[in-house]
Amino acid sequence: MGALTATLFCEQAAKAADAKIMMMSFFIARFLFLTSKIIIIFVIINNSLKMKDFVYFAPTEVVFGKKSEEQVASLVKKYGGHKVLVHYGGGSAKRSGLLDKTIGLLNGSGIQTVLLGGVVPNPRLSLVREGIDLCKREGVDFILSVGGGSVIDSAKAIAYGVRYDGDVWDLFIGKGECYECLPMGCVLTIPAAGSEMSSGTVITNEDGNLKRDYGNEYCRQKFAIMNPERTFTLPAYQTAAGVTDMIMHTMERYFSQDDDMTLTDAVAEALMRTMMDEVFNVLKDPSDYRARAQIMWGGTLAHNDITGCGTTSDWATHQLEHELSGMFDVTHGAGLAAIWPSWARYVYKENVSRFVRFAVNVMGVTNDFTDPEGTALRGIEAMERFYHAIGMPVSIKELIGREITDEEIEELALTCSWFGKSTQGRFKVLSKADMAAIYRMAR
Ligand code: NZQ
Ligand code: ZN
Repeated sequence: MGALTATLFCEQAAKAADAKIMMMSFFIARFLFLTSKIIIIFVIINNSLKMKDFVYFAPTEVVFGKKSEEQVASLVKKYGGHKVLVHYGGGSAKRSGLLDKTIGLLNGSGIQTVLLGGVVPNPRLSLVREGIDLCKREGVDFILSVGGGSVIDSAKAIAYGVRYDGDVWDLFIGKGECYECLPMGCVLTIPAAGSEMSSGTVITNEDGNLKRDYGNEYCRQKFAIMNPERTFTLPAYQTAAGVTDMIMHTMERYFSQDDDMTLTDAVAEALMRTMMDEVFNVLKDPSDYRARAQIMWGGTLAHNDITGCGTTSDWATHQLEHELSGMFDVTHGAGLAAIWPSWARYVYKENVSRFVRFAVNVMGVTNDFTDPEGTALRGIEAMERFYHAIGMPVSIKELIGREITDEEIEELALTCSWFGKSTQGRFKVLSKADMAAIYRMAR
């Protein structure tokens, strides 16, 4: 082979090698491009299915069981109380002897007490103001509630008001914030609102009948004493309304557009099913300790945020109900039962599969895979049957005993939307017109 031939051969060989390298590079680049696409798609899917970030903060010491109220004095002392406002309701705690027993235990341990009773369901601002003045005048350093959600909420508002430099109502209408309050504890007598571990308080201003909520982590109770025996005296209606409220606290968190909350869903479903079973046991036998205990603990778990970890809560039904309580002074749980079926029918198409899951896993409806909407609607109907079975209303007429007027519906929608300035809910964001439509459906 001459020198020229050898050079040509070498050039061709080099070209062939270049072509091979180019081909290989092309395939590698193509492979990397496709894999990166797959990785990007995987990351996107993975992120959208990711459990939502959350903070869980539940600082309340729960003392649960028979005779637990006997620890009240040591608990007050443990959390720094020397002079205590004992706050209570309209008479049930007095009649049962719980109030006198509690005061006796406190005084017997050298703790001074100041009394303020008269809290009514849908607790009023005027009594809160009276409580704030009393606490300031008497130098109270701790508030003890003996009662239910209304008493505890009233106590929370007083506790904020003592430390807030201004009118306490400012906090409820978005005009102010308060990051401190007097320490509090409670002896719970009705499982329902969950205020014993929640971060909120709901107060009604008689001037305009506006029911508004406020809250942050500062109003959490230092301790909650829960003796199921103390709930034996509850009337059937309050028992049923309480169970409705706690199930609703779970549903407000359950009806979410988030996807990956497997464990939270399972906890929520177990809680709802258990409450739905046990309520019939206590309605049959009000002194059934086992069933009362399940319900008492259920009420707390339903609203201490454990059923909401990783979800985006809705709360539209609660907001719609608060306006009903404000206008008609009805029992909160009953108001929720009256409005929820209409809310559900209005919004279920936003996420049919969530309503199917609820129908099947909570209400025991058979899943018709060919008709998801039908399954979802049968779940809502089953819930209505449950409400009726425990004596709860499923319409505003059943709630207030008469037809609601068009003017009243307009006013409810107006106040619920903060005079047209605010939406409600997150499962479906509701405008003022949506709110009015739901009230009309529920009439
Ligand atoms: O006032 P007394 O005589 O105690 O009678 C009460 C009241 O009439 C009675 N009762 C309580 N324990 C009893 C008893 N009767 C016999 N034996 C017992 N052992 O039950 C009636 C209702 O009491 P209430 O405290 O009003 O009930 P509940 O715990 O349901 O509280 C309702 C309030 O809580 C608010 C509601 O809006 C309503 O104003 N909520 C508070 C929340 C929170 N702070 O986190 C959340 C809730 O969603 C709710 O909005
Ligand atoms: Zn509630």
